[in-house]
Amino acid sequence: MSSKVLQYNNPTLVGEITVPGDKSISHRSVMFGSIAKGKTTVSGFLLGEDCLSTIDCFKKLGVEIEVDGTNVSIESPGMDGWAEPTEVLYTGNSGTTTRLMLGILSGTKLHTVMTGDASIGKRPMRRVADPLRLMGAQIAGRENGQFTPLAIQGGTLQAIDYTMPVASAQVKSAVLLAGLRANGTTIVRESEVSRDHTERMLRQFGAEIDVTDGIVSFKGGQTLTGTHVNVPGDISSAAFFLVAGSITQGSRIVLENVGVNETRDGILEVLKKMGAKMTVQVDDENAAEPTATITIETSELTGTTVGGSIIPRLIDEIPIIALLATQANGKTIIKDAEELKVKETNRIDAVVNELKKLGANIEATDDGMIIEGPTPLTGGALKTYGDHRIGMMGAVAALVAKGAVELDDADCIAVSYPTFFEHVEKLLK
Ligand code: S3P
Repeated sequence: MSSKVLQYNNPTLVGEITVPGDKSISHRSVMFGSIAKGKTTVSGFLLGEDCLSTIDCFKKLGVEIEVDGTNVSIESPGMDGWAEPTEVLYTGNSGTTTRLMLGILSGTKLHTVMTGDASIGKRPMRRVADPLRLMGAQIAGRENGQFTPLAIQGGTLQAIDYTMPVASAQVKSAVLLAGLRANGTTIVRESEVSRDHTERMLRQFGAEIDVTDGIVSFKGGQTLTGTHVNVPGDISSAAFFLVAGSITQGSRIVLENVGVNETRDGILEVLKKMGAKMTVQVDDENAAEPTATITIETSELTGTTVGGSIIPRLIDEIPIIALLATQANGKTIIKDAEELKVKETNRIDAVVNELKKLGANIEATDDGMIIEGPTPLTGGALKTYGDHRIGMMGAVAALVAKGAVELDDADCIAVSYPTFFEHVEKLLK
């Protein structure tokens, strides 16, 4: 954990960058490639700490995985050939690894134990363990399976018809991945659509899955066939530069190969609604995961309301949207976002506390926050709470702050964007 002092003097950001691979898709590429028998190749993989945790877990299950730059090759004996690991599977800071693996491991014949870092130890796991138990999974953990360490005794599973109590792609994905090994057809009903990378990738690996009106149906017993996965750039990482470009003076940033899956692109809708000068040129909308070149320029912004069904489409972008709102004219209301409380840290409290330290006019609510802008930001000493997205929010705030911003822990940014500061440097003019 090392601190970092950031001081910029009215910077202008100009140039092109390609943000690193999508975190959600990178995780899934290794998971699906390990489930499938044979060879899978991945390009554009995110070498962030979270995704490396996923690789590490599958290596402990006996899958051969080689990383060469952002190319990954996976050679698996298939799920039935995995070895019972002699060590605990360590998932680091990664909720996606922990929750999706819980679903996968429930349908094996193996006994496994999973644990992660201090943040993972506080994140709710019963939201995943409960539906999996309904399928017959045997999961033990602290506080009746609520928290890590979790012990899983894999076995025979039965399909369920599950109505999701929260919009969560991690819960949906865990149930679907368990459903792969279950007897019968697993059905997951979402009231609000969450990211659909699992559904798309199941198709890429040769499975049949039906999605109609928010109801996902998936027949158990299907086999996956190894393939090539091309991981697009992460829109959640691009978001930091979309905001940086729009709030710094004289800026123009071109972001290439950004994933624009419609279940993830809520940030683009918010930027447009707030008046951002932005163009989005889609490369190939029929790709398994469509990508675009996005250009953003310094913009005159107006406050807005962000709530309802858009929330799952931008849940990870709310910290940086809050910063954006401090520079916009008028009031921004972020609501229906209680899920922020159970992310890597409580992101409602973290965002409000830290932006207040820089002079922002921001108040927490039960399900979000209210921001009044525009406010010139000052320097200050910020806490990241070990949360990569709070760290990057602080770093982008430093670009517009009058004075130095100190981050207590800048290393945590490597969880999803190890080259973040290199990209800031590249764009500084
Ligand atoms: C993710 C789903 C989201 C998101 C997380 C990644 C995924 O979490 O916040 O960063 O890869 O499925 P929830 O499913 O808990 O909303």
